[in-house]
Amino acid sequence: MKRLSEFVMSNTFFFGMVFFTMVQFNSAFAQEDAQSLFRHNCMSCHSIEQNLVGPALKGVTERRDSAWLYSFIKNSQEMILAGDPLAVDLFNRFNKVPMPPFTHLSDEEIGAILRHIESEAQQTAMATADQNPIPRPEEFYGANYRQFTFSDIIFWLPMTITVILLIVTLVAFTHAHDALKEARNETVVPQEEL
Ligand code: HEC
Repeated sequence: MKRLSEFVMSNTFFFGMVFFTMVQFNSAFAQEDAQSLFRHNCMSCHSIEQNLVGPALKGVTERRDSAWLYSFIKNSQEMILAGDPLAVDLFNRFNKVPMPPFTHLSDEEIGAILRHIESEAQQTAMATADQNPIPRPEEFYGANYRQFTFSDIIFWLPMTITVILLIVTLVAFTHAHDALKEARNETVVPQEEL
């Protein structure tokens, strides 16, 4: 017994990795199961983002009570006949199309489908966020803020003046240099002869 526990202790990292990998596989399979459950049972009438035959399911776990969701998915018609106000309202708004009962789905399966809906909604939200970079609120920069562009006169005018001044200074220095040399009676070799 002592040997075994020593062995386990000395290989904690290894066992940890094995356990971690098993959990990863498990959740990957569960995710796939949930996706195929959703595909086979719900997708003919529901999308995450848009209303089809039934309402868009994005955010449904936030707008509805969990117990209400499970019993609606299991048998919505029963709830409508029992006069549940939310269920009746939905039924009326969606052209009185009855959603088929899913009594054969277990609570775990329904839970997995709901988690799948949540993660899909999150992924599309993230993808849209990627497409639209952080919006810049106007007030952040103040009313007079203008985005800088290279065609801006505010950029080109000082830039041109600086370049002209630089050229003028260079020419002036060259002349001054030549003049100094001449004053010292040194011959100035014209550029072409160099
Ligand atoms: C035949 C089409 C159809 C299928 C298949 C279907 N639904 Fe529905 N569903 C509807 C309709 C229509 C409504 C609106 C309520 C009504 O008319 O009864 C609805 C409503 C819902 C609601 C309530 C939405 C809200 O905003 O509160 C949920 C949750 C839901 N469905 C989940 C599912 C799930 C999960 C599946 C698959 C297991 C599924 N539905 C399969 C047609 C369908």
